[in-house]
Amino acid sequence: MIKLETKSPAETYNLGRRIARGIRSGDVLAFKGELGSGKTTLIQGIIEGLGVAERVQSPSFVLVRTYHADFEIKHVDLYRLDPQGVDGLHLEEIYSEDGVMLVEWSDHAGWLPGRVSFLEICFSPENQNHRRITVSGPIQKRLA
Ligand SMILES: Nc1ncnc2c1ncn2[C@@H]1O[C@H](COP(=O)(O)OP(=O)(O)O)[C@@H](O)[C@H]1O
Ligand SMILES: [Mg+2]
Repeated sequence: MIKLETKSPAETYNLGRRIARGIRSGDVLAFKGELGSGKTTLIQGIIEGLGVAERVQSPSFVLVRTYHADFEIKHVDLYRLDPQGVDGLHLEEIYSEDGVMLVEWSDHAGWLPGRVSFLEICFSPENQNHRRITVSGPIQKRLA
């Protein structure tokens, strides 16, 4: 597990751009962290780093937004999905080995397809603009 700290939204965004360099097709990145911790900010940096020029908006209402770069990127936000709901969301139906999937509130999904790495963002008790970020899974080795 890698432990990192950022001191501003811009640092979190730039960390996302760095993480993007380690992403390979077939990767699924699962993001955990409270509301406002910075999951979307980090993902905006990742998607820009993957080569997407358009603005990345939170998919809280639509659940999934799709972007196209060298591969297809699915940005999923399961915040509004009831984790106890019987139906759930069958992410395996939109997962492709040729693409990447970035999932906010991944713990609301019963199950994640693909080669999954985990990123967790926590508020720092010292400063309201600091965040502690842990990275684990296959992506960890590719964060040089
Ligand atoms: N170090 C930091 N990293 C990320 N966001 C930060 C940081 N410090 C303050 N913020 C603020 O916290 C909020 C994070 O929002 P967002 O990325 O949408 O979080 P989430 O998707 O986890 O709900 C933004 O308003 C951002 O400006
Ligand atoms: Mg978000």
